[in-house]
Amino acid sequence: MKSKFHPDKNGYYGQFGGAFIPELLYPNVKELEDNYIQIINSDEFQKEYKALLKDYVGRPSPLYLAKRLSEKYNAFIYLKREDLNHTGAHKVNNTIGQILVAKKLGKTKIIAETGAGQHGVATATVCALMGLECTVFMGEKDIERQAPNVARMKMLGAKVIPALSGSKTLKDATNEAIRYWIQHPETFYLIGSVVGPHPYPDMVARLQAVISEEIKWQLKEKTGKENPDTIIACVGGGSNAAGAFYHYMDDEDVELIAVEASGLGVNSGESAATSQLGEVGIIHGSKTILMQDEYGQIVEPYSISAGLDYPGVGPLHAYLFDSKRATFMNATDKEALTAAYELTKIEGIIPALESAHALAVLSKITFKKDQVVVVNLSGRGDKDLETYIKHLED
Ligand SMILES: Cc1ncc(COP(=O)(O)O)c(C=O)c1O
Repeated sequence: MKSKFHPDKNGYYGQFGGAFIPELLYPNVKELEDNYIQIINSDEFQKEYKALLKDYVGRPSPLYLAKRLSEKYNAFIYLKREDLNHTGAHKVNNTIGQILVAKKLGKTKIIAETGAGQHGVATATVCALMGLECTVFMGEKDIERQAPNVARMKMLGAKVIPALSGSKTLKDATNEAIRYWIQHPETFYLIGSVVGPHPYPDMVARLQAVISEEIKWQLKEKTGKENPDTIIACVGGGSNAAGAFYHYMDDEDVELIAVEASGLGVNSGESAATSQLGEVGIIHGSKTILMQDEYGQIVEPYSISAGLDYPGVGPLHAYLFDSKRATFMNATDKEALTAAYELTKIEGIIPALESAHALAVLSKITFKKDQVVVVNLSGRGDKDLETYIKHLED
């Protein structure tokens, strides 16, 4: 299947993407670029990847018709339950795949960055599973606000290194991971989203594509049609959205809605609504849209949600935005909290704060009669309980 939303051979989606890397990393990135498609498409990989997704992760994740939510918003709202995966989010789809790629390339030491800690936990988990050494970089602020995940990573045997620069969040953790990678090029950098130099955005999108592959047959089973009218997903770097959109990108009749975090408000100076505030630039090895000042310096992002607190988006999303294929909306901290409490009360599901941003736009859309909507529930809210409890009285 060839799509105009797949990158060209140099990793470009339109003008976005590429691999802007220091010379020292060139051999690593080239090795991956030369091998990733062949590895992922091999029968051996597919057999192992699918078996692990089924028996270890618990896939397929259910597609659940949320009846009370549907009644409230006057549409058929289905939740793609990535929150029910082993380790609690979509991130594990990618780490299972990349660890198999790393093993195939003979790597024994893994590094990763993490924001909400979900990618860190998913990486530490697959490293434990495969008996590989794991080092995770995490912003000091995120270490505080996602404490349960830090404890889980440590119990799984990972070394967690705090990033102390900048806003001490995901961007800074990624900077530290890249710095370490340059100094230790023998390590495999297991990136957690559709960001970074080519081929990472494409590799991660392919590994998350299982989400929309499943939505297609699950929806067909439930409604007789494999296409919903609308798919909604939150965007930090963009991996859960890339996975939920992947098999629908060429079906222009399926509306794709990407939801960014607008923190205290898009124009408050405390936001992570990249598409609204950003311009074209280079971050973490790829050309994309990012929040920057007049000198090209990155503007520190802000969101209550550690996984969305990132000043850029992956190049695929920059292209989806620029080409207007996807609609970009946003939700504030407050709107996300309200949506999280609502889902908890009316459906008995506590969502991750990141996923709550996707849910928050339901109240901003006027649905037409019988509209079929899929919301990608990217993760569960256990890691966010402290934040939820703290804001309950607001
Ligand atoms: C549950 C959950 N959803 C969404 C995200 C955002 O990442 P991405 O945009 O790559 O899906 C994260 C990141 O940590 C997460 O933990």
